[in-house]
Amino acid sequence: MSTQTGAPRRITVNELRRLKERGEKIAMVTAYDATAARLCGEAGVDVVLVGDSLGMVVQGHDSTLPVTLDQMVYHSAMVRRGLARAGSRAHLVGDLPFGSYQASADEAVTAAMRMVAEGGVESVKLEGGSDYVEVIRRIVRAGVPVMGHIGLTPQSVHKLGGYVVQGKDAEKAQALLRDARALEAAGCYAVVLECIPTELARVISGQLAIPTIGIGAGPSCDGQVLVLNDILGLDDAFTPRFVRRFAELGGEVRGAVGRYLAEVKAGTFPAEEHVFHSSSVRLVPVADETEEREDLPGVMGAPV
Ligand code: KIV
Repeated sequence: MSTQTGAPRRITVNELRRLKERGEKIAMVTAYDATAARLCGEAGVDVVLVGDSLGMVVQGHDSTLPVTLDQMVYHSAMVRRGLARAGSRAHLVGDLPFGSYQASADEAVTAAMRMVAEGGVESVKLEGGSDYVEVIRRIVRAGVPVMGHIGLTPQSVHKLGGYVVQGKDAEKAQALLRDARALEAAGCYAVVLECIPTELARVISGQLAIPTIGIGAGPSCDGQVLVLNDILGLDDAFTPRFVRRFAELGGEVRGAVGRYLAEVKAGTFPAEEHVFHSSSVRLVPVADETEEREDLPGVMGAPV
């Protein structure tokens, strides 16, 4: 279906909920720029997340903490353009970065509005459980749908003591179930469950009417999310247990750049088929380059 502008109608939060009701899995993937977004859109994913994981996979930090709201807005706008170019219906959600929503609900609403107005996202995601109920209510009341995120919440890496599986004992599992229910009651349209035991994810997914999106939370979740760079196998250094590399593009990229390098060094690239010719180019010898000659143009003609 198309809108009045001819653009395809985007997947809404209500549609995501209907997918859960029908038992259809939701496929979500991160993207950080227009090219990646176009390819993900063309592949037909349901949801694209501009994750603050860009701090690690794009910016090279060892956590997501240095990512700013300006940077999230900047990358979201790129991804929005890439999805538009693909004619994609994917729902676009963007992370609220560390420091943009924790201090006050007012700041959180302002940050969410910037992500929508300037970044072009349809909803925002924020990390945290029951403590964020008021913040979530305020953002939703302002008209911006919110995706929750509990379990391993990377913005709290120092509090959690590392990137470790959460909710392994009964008490912590119970607390996560309470958090999930609180997020649903606060108005979240979906919740990411990151790195929790599959048994707990199954219980949470069964108890919530809103979709759960798992990453390291097993197959019972209503959908799955992975970081695009992990799907593509771009990083040889580390593959978390919950990731499946669906391609090995790291090696492909190295190989392609290596072949380019070899051909440049050998002088075999560019070849005849890569060069431009012009029969109208007239080269006029310049006798003395320091001497100004108004009567002689340097080079005439244009590339064809
Ligand atoms: O930032 C991110 O990419 C995420 C997903 C891994 C859920 O939050």
